[in-house]
Amino acid sequence: MGDVMDKLVSLCKRRGFIFQSSEVYGGLNGCWDYGPLGVELLRNIKDSWWKAMTYREDVEGIDASILMHPRVWEASGHVDGFTDPMIDCRSCKARFRDDTLTEAQLEAGQCPNCGNKEVLTEPRAFNLMFKTFVGPLEDDSARAFLRPETAQGIYVNFLNVQTAMRHKLPFGIAQIGKAFRNEINTKNFLFRTREFEQMEMQYFVRPGTEDEWFEYWREERWNWFAGIGLPESKMSWHEHQGDELAHYARAAFDIQYAFPFGEGEIEGIHNRGDFDLGRHEEFSGKSLRFFDDQTREKILPSVIETSIGASRTCMACLVHAYHEEEVDGDKRVVMRFHPRVAPLKVAVLPLVKRDNMPDIARKIVADLRSSLPVFYDEGGAIGRRYRRMDEVGTPYCVTVDSETLENDTVTVRERDSMDQSRVAIDALKADIAQRIETWKPAGD
Ligand code: GAP
Repeated sequence: MGDVMDKLVSLCKRRGFIFQSSEVYGGLNGCWDYGPLGVELLRNIKDSWWKAMTYREDVEGIDASILMHPRVWEASGHVDGFTDPMIDCRSCKARFRDDTLTEAQLEAGQCPNCGNKEVLTEPRAFNLMFKTFVGPLEDDSARAFLRPETAQGIYVNFLNVQTAMRHKLPFGIAQIGKAFRNEINTKNFLFRTREFEQMEMQYFVRPGTEDEWFEYWREERWNWFAGIGLPESKMSWHEHQGDELAHYARAAFDIQYAFPFGEGEIEGIHNRGDFDLGRHEEFSGKSLRFFDDQTREKILPSVIETSIGASRTCMACLVHAYHEEEVDGDKRVVMRFHPRVAPLKVAVLPLVKRDNMPDIARKIVADLRSSLPVFYDEGGAIGRRYRRMDEVGTPYCVTVDSETLENDTVTVRERDSMDQSRVAIDALKADIAQRIETWKPAGD
């Protein structure tokens, strides 16, 4: 398991997907930077989600600020309830989440870091929100938090959006943005980080209709993953029971992906009832009720939330894409991304650097680039150039060769099958678009 993850982390750095944050200073735990190819992959995932969630009549998008009034987090329950139980070592000062220690360590009070016995404290609640100050004074009156979820920016704007866009119930509000959690144990690459991106949607419904909308959104969200290349066979549901439920949730289901280190949550679908709007009414003293002009009632809606980590989904796409295989006695590493999320869609390669081939290839690049991310490479043996593109998951390589000079056709090589076919240059754009649209994973 560690082996696959180590190889993936190394590929991500070497090929410009993901870098350790502040690496030249030794890195900052739980923070990662997206390089040129990583940022494209992440953007493609976010675009796919945004289109699926907001290109419809009943959902609007917003982009709320990360810093919010501190009372928001009292109302939301995060100041009191967003905690992990944590144990300190009195000897070496290391800190652990209590569920990461074994029974034996807890009984002996033995620190897994320094090995000393009877040095562990009792568990204490540790709040996961990052704190900062707004303005020049660094006292309690200026204290603010970096948001631990994007959802609250939606709740406090519920009536603004409803009024501006003249919606009736049910309707939803979606947003993509950064969230921050001071996780005690960051782990597994992008899986649990301190800074990450969420894609959340809150769907406001009439009280009493939560169950039907909960089922509707569970199905919608489950079906979305195949479109970014994560198949059903790798996905599973996990229903939250009893004290697993977050403080705001009446019911919760996770969609999990089978990572090399085990099943891991990518998305949560939550029935939050009227907890959040009710608490914001209580703490702000302002009505957040929807006025139904037919029944003349003021309604406090219930909420179904879909909450997915963009960074975690990016990690699932990377893990899922990674393949090693043997071709003609050589090892081939290939990232089998769905072309929809692949950072580069096409590479254009002149077979040799003469006979006008680079010029023809450059013209093809200019033509394709108006609609697709294209990479141009004229350096080295063609086989090696194909391998470089396989390793970053570029689904199609277009080669300009001597036949091109005779009949204006090029070779299109497919990443997964490595099959090659000839296509007329003037039909190339439509051909590639068609291939992307109809792509199926190998074996289907
Ligand atoms: N608004 C509800 C909410 O935030 P959550 O289950 O705490 O619910 C939702 O988080 C999603 O955010 C998770 O399914 C996961 O994909 C992502 N996420 C949460 N904590 C994360 C972390 N520390 N690092 C990366 N992604 C995280």
